[in-house]
Amino acid sequence: MNVRKILCIGAGYVGGPTMAVIADKCPDIRVEVVDISPERIAQWNSERLPVYEPGLDEVVRRCRGRNLFFQVASPEAVADADVVFVSVNTPTKAFGEGAGMAPDLQYWELAARFLKPHLRDGAIIVEKSTVPVRTAEAISRILHDGQSDRHFPVLSNPEFLAEGTAIRDLMEPDRVLIGCEEDDRGRAAAQALADVYRQWVPEERILLSNVWSSELSKLTANAFLAQRISSINSISALCEVTHADVTQISRAIGTDGRIGPRFLEAGVGFGGSCFRKDILNLAYICQQQGLAEVGAYWKSVVDMNDYQISRFTRNVVARQFNTVAGKRLALFGFAFKPGTNDTRDSPAFYVVKKLLEERAHVVITDPQALEHAAYDLRGMEGELQFEPDPYAAAAGSHAIVLVTHWEEFRALDYQRIFDSMEKPASVFDGRNWLDAPALHEIGFNVYPLGKTALVHY
Ligand code: NAD
Ligand code: UGA
Repeated sequence: MNVRKILCIGAGYVGGPTMAVIADKCPDIRVEVVDISPERIAQWNSERLPVYEPGLDEVVRRCRGRNLFFQVASPEAVADADVVFVSVNTPTKAFGEGAGMAPDLQYWELAARFLKPHLRDGAIIVEKSTVPVRTAEAISRILHDGQSDRHFPVLSNPEFLAEGTAIRDLMEPDRVLIGCEEDDRGRAAAQALADVYRQWVPEERILLSNVWSSELSKLTANAFLAQRISSINSISALCEVTHADVTQISRAIGTDGRIGPRFLEAGVGFGGSCFRKDILNLAYICQQQGLAEVGAYWKSVVDMNDYQISRFTRNVVARQFNTVAGKRLALFGFAFKPGTNDTRDSPAFYVVKKLLEERAHVVITDPQALEHAAYDLRGMEGELQFEPDPYAAAAGSHAIVLVTHWEEFRALDYQRIFDSMEKPASVFDGRNWLDAPALHEIGFNVYPLGKTALVHY
């Protein structure tokens, strides 16, 4: 099939950037992105995109109105699509069977039911959302209900981009994975999708597999990445009581070619919309399949993350003479990582919640995520402030609690900050991001993560 029009259902953090890059790299393909939220579509059509992602503005500016269009979902948009990506959200289920672990597939199912009557025969459906293994089968059942002999191949094409580097990851992916049914129609559909990617991705990076392996590869990739973080975070706790240094350990083990250096940075814990959700999903599938031990093994990765976040926060309170009540604390960073305005499942949320419970006065500063922070924390009781200027946030504070390692925070004048703070002034560096000896020299008590604290008294 010669793909001339691609439709994407879901204009979120994945749908928007992914389709923008496809449009950029494939000028002969018309790419339409639709969403049920008219506000989100209006934002994609405005000067201020709903997603902050380095390089995204430029790509959208190049393609929007040329071969990239954002619009509200409609039957007309579906009717002439050759390929339909479904990139809707699949959050953890908050109710009923599997609540707190299983993914909520209602948006996926709604999308499939919306598409069904309008699709042209032979249109290829692509799972872009992260879904449990065998979801393609369920989707295929919804689409093929025996009422007509129309056929729609369902492919799995999970997305591996990381936020903050999404454009680079999409332009130069480590791999593109396409899972198909192992019959002629499935293989032909996979080739048609592979041809789209071949326009900029080298052949050896396009991997074909069966649908179930592709679906499970996505969950496994996230589980392995998160598992590395929890592993090094567990060692960071041990470092703090043995006077070993977790950064030195990461370097020492990361130089082993079998281990490799990436995803070994200890920190306050992983966040983001996917790691927790996808591991819980994996653990749930294992439980459902009677593999309780396997499920418990993966669940422990999330448990270790929760432990790390609460360990970090407990330390803040303990080092403030066991009370932060009434004390002003400056929280540096609310996004779940730098380079994004995304705050979903950010460790900062749990840190702030705990500090407010301890009756601290929390002042949050972040270069991109203050709007989302205010939304996430709406209705939370306590003294809470949002301050775009980090100097103003720190002034009068007893401590800086760094949760997100924005480059901006490194470039600050910490002597000026120290002079404006209550004394003793402390820095709790949840990402080992700042120059601890230099801060100590200025006069701060410095509490890095997984290292010996540098204190004056
Ligand atoms: P998101 O919430 O940012 O975007 C999803 C969009 O889908 C929303 O705008 C929502 O309004 C829209 N939507 C929901 N139901 C719809 C429907 N029936 N019709 C039209 N639009 C509909 O989510 P996201 O971060 O883009 O994630 C999407 C999927 O991709 C998830 O399964 C996620 O696990 C996966 N994923 C995310 C990332 C990431 O970095 N965020 C990376 C890889 C994979
Ligand atoms: C992650 C994966 O890296 C992507 O491949 C995947 O597509 C995506 O999830 C998804 O499925 O949503 P993302 O969550 O955007 O991407 O960002 P990461 O760079 O993986 O960081 C996740 C969290 O781990 C952040 O809170 C980050 O600060 C933390 N992290 C990362 C560490 O604590 N230590 C590290 O060494 C690396």
